[in-house]
Amino acid sequence: MAALIELEDLHFRYHDGTPALQGISLKINQGEKTALLGPNGAGKSTLLLHLNGIYHAQQGAVRVAGEKITRANENWVRGKVGFVFQDPDDQVFSPTVWDDVAFGPLNQGLERTTIEARVREALQAVGMWELRAKAPHHLSYGQKKRAAIAGILAMHPEIVILDEPTAFLDPAGQKALFEILEILHAKGKTIIIATHDVDLAAEWATSIILLKDGKLLAHGDTGLLVRDSLVRAAGLKFPVVSQVFQQVPALVVRPLPKTVAEGAHLIMQLINQKEEKARGINIIS
Ligand SMILES: Nc1ncnc2c1ncn2[C@@H]1O[C@H](COP(=O)(O)OP(=O)(O)OP(=O)(O)O)[C@@H](O)[C@H]1O
Ligand SMILES: [Mg+2]
Repeated sequence: MAALIELEDLHFRYHDGTPALQGISLKINQGEKTALLGPNGAGKSTLLLHLNGIYHAQQGAVRVAGEKITRANENWVRGKVGFVFQDPDDQVFSPTVWDDVAFGPLNQGLERTTIEARVREALQAVGMWELRAKAPHHLSYGQKKRAAIAGILAMHPEIVILDEPTAFLDPAGQKALFEILEILHAKGKTIIIATHDVDLAAEWATSIILLKDGKLLAHGDTGLLVRDSLVRAAGLKFPVVSQVFQQVPALVVRPLPKTVAEGAHLIMQLINQKEEKARGINIIS
């Protein structure tokens, strides 16, 4: 099966000479949940901005569904790839929240009734329906972020990209966001997030991309998040569950668990082993 997204030796340098991406090649398949991690300035946002034609490859290529992204097809790619910016102030600008969410579907040339249904569905999904008449610049930062997410959901894109989606969301907002992402994933959408949250990446992602200094450090499953050399090289911290296992000598295991479920399973296994050993000793005596 051909990859849905393909980067081939992608390079990008900003006007001031900063080499933000230095030869990135990778493939992302349809239906993946990908978390992109790396220190500040690693190039995460720059990379993501190439996936829907906001930036164009200066060297190398970006392909979506087999089509090389160029200025000629950037409108097509924007319908296919929804992008939620790191900073919602870059995204919400209409007089009301409702207008803001309707903006994308309106540009897609949809009928009025379809637009209304899409706006309602999207605003309800992010818990912002009650605030639909409010001016976006009067919203709190977290509310703006939700409005920005709703604006993308309303366009029904095949690929959803969220740059730091949990920044400024309260715990309930984060939980609600990931429930929405699970619904999108169940519908076969491909989702990519940039994040600094390794615990979230470990629990949520099916695929991990590690970037540093504009270069690809690694691309693989969530096992990468507990590989000592990579965690150090990428300037990450270990998932909290694995930190517990590193600190308690009786729990030292390899590979380290990444998620709460894996940690709980390992503890149960160790308890069972201990109980079986104790029973064995009783039988002999
Ligand atoms: N508009 C710009 N002009 C010049 N340099 C830029 C610009 N935007 C980003 N950069 C530089 O490009 C590099 C990559 O930045 P980018 O925003 O992609 O990093 P990031 O991984 O998203 O970081 P963060 O975790 O802070 O969001 C950095 O060195 C940054 O200083
Ligand atoms: Mg960024």
